[in-house]
Amino acid sequence: MIYPIILSGGSGSRLWPISRVSRPKQFLSLYSKKPLIIDTAERVNHPEFYAPTVVCNVDHRFLVGESFAEAGIVPRGILLEPVARSTAAAILSAVYSIFRDDADATILVMPSDHSIENHESLFKALKDTTSTAELGKIITFGIQAISPEIGYGYIEAGEPLNVEGNVKSVTRFHEKPDVKTATEYLETGRYSWNSGIFMFKAEALFRIVDAIDSEFIKNVIHSVEKSVSDLDFIRLDNSSFSALPNSSFDVAVMEKTTEAAVVQVDMNWSDIGSWHSLWGVSNKDSNGNVSVGNTAILDCSGSLAWNDDGGVTALIGVEDLIVVVNDGSVLVTTRDQSEKVKLLVDQLKVSG
Ligand code: GDD
Ligand code: MG
Repeated sequence: MIYPIILSGGSGSRLWPISRVSRPKQFLSLYSKKPLIIDTAERVNHPEFYAPTVVCNVDHRFLVGESFAEAGIVPRGILLEPVARSTAAAILSAVYSIFRDDADATILVMPSDHSIENHESLFKALKDTTSTAELGKIITFGIQAISPEIGYGYIEAGEPLNVEGNVKSVTRFHEKPDVKTATEYLETGRYSWNSGIFMFKAEALFRIVDAIDSEFIKNVIHSVEKSVSDLDFIRLDNSSFSALPNSSFDVAVMEKTTEAAVVQVDMNWSDIGSWHSLWGVSNKDSNGNVSVGNTAILDCSGSLAWNDDGGVTALIGVEDLIVVVNDGSVLVTTRDQSEKVKLLVDQLKVSG
């Protein structure tokens, strides 16, 4: 059986105004009726998995607690980070909290804010890679790269590691390359995007990270060993956790290790990283329009209208436009410029 870990820490600022620091995107119901974090948990609500371990910032504990209680899912544990230290610290702490109870644990790390339509493909990939994980590899689940996106990690596949040939060694992992490099990678045909899902043996991960930075492991162990139970939560120790470097798992571990393997999975994956991608995964009318809440659309195509603020959001005769009215804020952008919402939020510091 596999222990899932769900990462719930991002602020999802590219989906402002509906996603804010006080209620980031993983707690929103976007394309389905449930919050993304619950869609994620339900994906592994299956006899082959233990209950998920959730790791989140202390400020989001009640959002996590309430979301799981409403869904009737009891997590194995909800670990609270006293400060944000990015995904390396979050993943390693959660892994150690499992490893100290089960030294033979196999872990599946999942972001809390993605959409995966084809679960069966993911499950098949998990089965195909189990024996490679047993060998001590960190398994990455790659998505066929189709454009030079700069918001993703790029994984270069090397030699096949199994008889079927679909599990391969990783010759390079490059987190968020610039657009020129991403274009070069795309042209080789050897690269996948990193989906942000990882599978490994807990013991193998500790061995790999210990060789890269043994101080890191010491602080991770202390942050868990000195943690305190509080209601349904486990508060990680403040001073050891705060001492951890603020680096992503991708940069701190995946770019440095030689022990990675990749399997490419066709699972209709989206990280819903922008209004354009939310439009992409949502149900549309015959002209490609998405409408959420109280909206009226006439002679439009490829547009998204959103209103959860009373009144009506009305669109006439426009193409590929995003108009969102939420909680006293209005966003108007074209679909192809919607990535820039993050810049706007940084500039205005309005996401709280
Ligand atoms: N607990 C916790 N603490 N979770 C965190 C933290 C943190 O400090 N920071 C981020 N997360 C969670 C997010 O909520 C998300 O579910 C996941 O970890 C990934 O973090 P993002 O901040 O969304 O990363 P990204 O989108 O920039 O990049 C990652 O995902 C891409 C695919 O969407 C990388 O793994 C890329 O390589 C990958 O291509
Ligand atoms: Mg992300």
